[in-house]
Amino acid sequence: MASPVPSLGQLVSHATCLFKKNFGDEAPKIAACAPGRVNLIGEHTDYNQGYVLPMALSLVTVVVGSASSGQEATIVTASEEADEPRKVDLTLPIEGFPLSPGLPHWTNYVKGVMHHYRDDGDNLSKAIACQQAEHTHAGVPCGIMDQLVSVLGMEGHALLIDCRSLESIPVPLTDPGLVFLITNSNVKHSLASSEYALRRAQCEKAASILRKPSLRDATMNDLEAQESRAQLDDVTYRRACHVIGEICRTLKAAESLKRGAYQEFGKLMVESHNSLRDLYEVSCKDLDDLVCAAMEVEGVFGSRMTGGGFGGCTITLLKAHAIDRTIQNIQERYSGTPTFYVATPSEGARALKLS
Ligand code: GLA
Repeated sequence: MASPVPSLGQLVSHATCLFKKNFGDEAPKIAACAPGRVNLIGEHTDYNQGYVLPMALSLVTVVVGSASSGQEATIVTASEEADEPRKVDLTLPIEGFPLSPGLPHWTNYVKGVMHHYRDDGDNLSKAIACQQAEHTHAGVPCGIMDQLVSVLGMEGHALLIDCRSLESIPVPLTDPGLVFLITNSNVKHSLASSEYALRRAQCEKAASILRKPSLRDATMNDLEAQESRAQLDDVTYRRACHVIGEICRTLKAAESLKRGAYQEFGKLMVESHNSLRDLYEVSCKDLDDLVCAAMEVEGVFGSRMTGGGFGGCTITLLKAHAIDRTIQNIQERYSGTPTFYVATPSEGARALKLS
């Protein structure tokens, strides 16, 4: 069975209780939520200015709060995974006195957002501020995919995002006979963040050898040209080969989804996985096993690792009636303890009304 997703109401009331417990029984005055995301295809393409095809999920993070007087603020997290202490006092950043990263770790992203956020009402600048927070305060040199889809997500749609122009095209996902299933491997390898930064550097190196501003501008012909082949070492060549191929696949995949060509979409998902495994080398045995187990089931169109890699989740496209069989087969075949979620394309970050 797929895991139930806590409702927005449940999360808000939990956050409200925590707020009251910490701040003298007074109710919070504002609330907002932002969704998590799953990427259907277009992996490790965002920081190469390519295309991605994610959707926002119904799994959200909720924030409640009230304005504090002066420059002092207190933040509390409900996350069981956060390091201690879970209640922290901060001085709001002002010119010349930035909020610097430090301990506990969980505060760093929050501090980064406080530092970079400008209240200009623009969704793109909101997403960019959150990406900068990852770079300067959480130490993750990520692309813009996660933040953009979390801000712009649309109910019933995936978004084809051009990570160069930051334009996004909604792709409807409303076929009731179809399901995207997220399988969490529940493993996370510690090398994920160092390897991520390394991949990004390898892509920049490849683009500079090919004399292109980014790998978005390069073609397979550029990569195969004799002069480039002579200068590219094997690893850099393979990294670039994945990115150039994946950008093409993402565009093709969005087209096939629009046409309802699910077999074709599924095939592209598997090609994407194989490329991430063999050329980009960001998969791991757990993810490969999950993909293999899903692909054994009749009614499954395609499956691939999703996100940064080295653990985390797979995403599988299947016929809705095949979901129980698929979950069962994965549970039987996978040596770990997976959790399952049905990916429901949902709306993006928003303010909530408090009753
Ligand atoms: C992580 C990053 C994203 C993106 C993916 C890989 O999720 O946060 O920006 O690069 O990895 O596609």
